[in-house]
Amino acid sequence: MASRWFAVEAGLSVMDRYAVVGQPVAHSRSPYIHAYFAKQTEQQLEYGRLAPHSDQFEQCVKDFFNNGGKGLNITLPFKERAYLLAKQVSARAKTAHAANTLWIEDGQICADNTDGLGLTADFNYLNIPITKKSILILGAGGAVRGVLAPLLEQSPSEIFVANRTATKAIELIKDFQGENNTGNSIIHAGSIMDPRLSRSFDVIINATSATIKGEALIFPQNIFSSNSYAYDMSYKAELTPFLEQARMHKVQHYFDGLGMLIEQAAESFRIWRHCRPKTDELRILLRQQLINNS
Ligand code: ATR
Repeated sequence: MASRWFAVEAGLSVMDRYAVVGQPVAHSRSPYIHAYFAKQTEQQLEYGRLAPHSDQFEQCVKDFFNNGGKGLNITLPFKERAYLLAKQVSARAKTAHAANTLWIEDGQICADNTDGLGLTADFNYLNIPITKKSILILGAGGAVRGVLAPLLEQSPSEIFVANRTATKAIELIKDFQGENNTGNSIIHAGSIMDPRLSRSFDVIINATSATIKGEALIFPQNIFSSNSYAYDMSYKAELTPFLEQARMHKVQHYFDGLGMLIEQAAESFRIWRHCRPKTDELRILLRQQLINNS
């Protein structure tokens, strides 16, 4: 798996090397995305995939950097371990307790988390408003932890984190309460069936892994109004089941998370290469690929 990558240090390649590390990574779109960014910005680099066994993650990362590798993207299930491995961590990675971007500076492994920036950049691109808006997030896993701080920075009127396992959501928001300047916390949490959810929200984000796992997602039916924005962090060639439900509730603005994937990658690229690639054309290309491969 990693042999070609570690053979490159023997001097066979002069290109800067990057990779995505996860388990599995065979279907990761990151190599394609970063090759596209490199071409667009006229930079020479290689970007591969690493899929270490669970007990070899830390060694794999250290070997990669010890052998001259420049940067890594980290995906499931290693984001928390990547954060713990790093010697220098950004504030974003710290609040997320997870890292998706690693690089080396002064011989030390540094970490950042660009997932939240990816989401807010995509919202920006799609004109999804956050400031002064009520936001409902479904799910309370790592994906939510990574995006809460960037969302709070944009001063929504309220964020409600609703999860199938209520205690997990309540525990999660403890790290984020008090981030607004009013003294009253604008962030709340509860069960996905909490009676406080019997009304509509301006923006509803599905951050559960139900779509990926192909499972049904149960949630209260009053959360949508026709003016709501529905966003699914997952993406598929066709509408995700969550977005299908939003559409059935007459929601007019609904989007999946393909743009978030692209924007978080653009932020990683910016950290590594000190320039932010354009993402418009790639959005069209990846959407087309998704449809063609379905
Ligand atoms: P990630 O890092 O992608 O967020 P995770 O940490 O495994 O993944 O979290 C998955 C989230 O999706 C959890 O909030 C989970 O709810 P529980 O905490 O109750 O397990 C939620 N989830 C997964 N499948 C779901 C389903 N079918 N219905 C509702 N929520 C679901």
